[in-house]
Amino acid sequence: MNKKTILVTGGAGYIGSHVVRQLGEAGEQIIVLDNLCTGFADAVLYGELVVGDSGDRELASRLLSEHNIDTVMHFAAHLVVPESVEKPLKYYGNNTCNTRNLLQCCEEAGVKNFIFSSTAATYGIPEGGVATEESCTAPINPYGTSKLMSEWMLRDLSAASDLNHVILRYFNVAGSDPEGRIGQCTPNATLLIKVACEVATGKRDSIKIFGTDYPTEDGTGVRDYIHVDDLARAHLDALEYLRQGGESTLVNCGYGHGYSVREVLDSVQRVNGKPLNIIEQLRRAGDPPQLIAGAERIRNLFGWKPRYDDLDFIVQTSLDWEKKLKSRNNS
Ligand code: UD1
Repeated sequence: MNKKTILVTGGAGYIGSHVVRQLGEAGEQIIVLDNLCTGFADAVLYGELVVGDSGDRELASRLLSEHNIDTVMHFAAHLVVPESVEKPLKYYGNNTCNTRNLLQCCEEAGVKNFIFSSTAATYGIPEGGVATEESCTAPINPYGTSKLMSEWMLRDLSAASDLNHVILRYFNVAGSDPEGRIGQCTPNATLLIKVACEVATGKRDSIKIFGTDYPTEDGTGVRDYIHVDDLARAHLDALEYLRQGGESTLVNCGYGHGYSVREVLDSVQRVNGKPLNIIEQLRRAGDPPQLIAGAERIRNLFGWKPRYDDLDFIVQTSLDWEKKLKSRNNS
């Protein structure tokens, strides 16, 4: 029988490509399914890339039956929160309906394991700013709701079939491959560390602080920033857990502590050795003051050991990648 294969949807995107790299290095056989609407073919360092939609049932069924796939890792999704508020059906279509279609294909093909990219946005504004897996889910934007609906479908399908799953709720993902091969390429980025590094390398003029009057230590928003390679490792740990017969579960992916916007910008200035042009602004709509992971379960259940829990290191890898993109664009 052929070696077991993993189908990675969205494997040409930022997080998916880091997971594909680690899976490839671990000797796993991989098929990447990505429509390249926000992903990049050259970010896929291992496996075979099939260009197409994860919600295309005919294509997904063919891939599942032709490749002896035991596990699906599902990253393909839209993820820009403000856009989801303006275009909710785009998010429910791509994130929720496409996940439903893919799950149907998995059920028909008898796929054993499903690892799902979810988000801390499913919690909304948790009490005290810390969310454990037991906290209530109350998303405040369609992006979070579209992911929560997918979680529910997965939960119900697992209860009714032999499919086992791990849901990973990501907190604020940042940084890039420490060896500089891949990174975040998103055009018109809105994420704090990416934008700050674009300012540091001269791609943008200034960075805005959205709100300085939050009830936090220095008045700016606090988030739990996790290095993308540690997050990628959590997917390999989840795979191992499921392959060893682990029950379906849900885990937060964060370090369990946070940094304010000012602390992040201080780090960028320190690592880059130059001041940033910083402009203080009013709060951005929909931002919770603080969002930190209760992050015990992932360590206890998977034995997950983060390697890069260091803000300056996260920033350094983001900055190195931004410099690389700049020199690529200039050449
Ligand atoms: C949000 C989502 C997250 C999603 C991500 C991608 C929530 C709770 N989280 O993260 O699930 O994956 O968007 O879209 O919905 N900030 C500035 N200036 C900037 C940019 C950001 O001050 O130019 C501040 C924000 O106000 C916030 C912090 O930096 O306090 C982090 O913001 P950002 O990087 O955009 O991520 P989230 O909004 O936390």
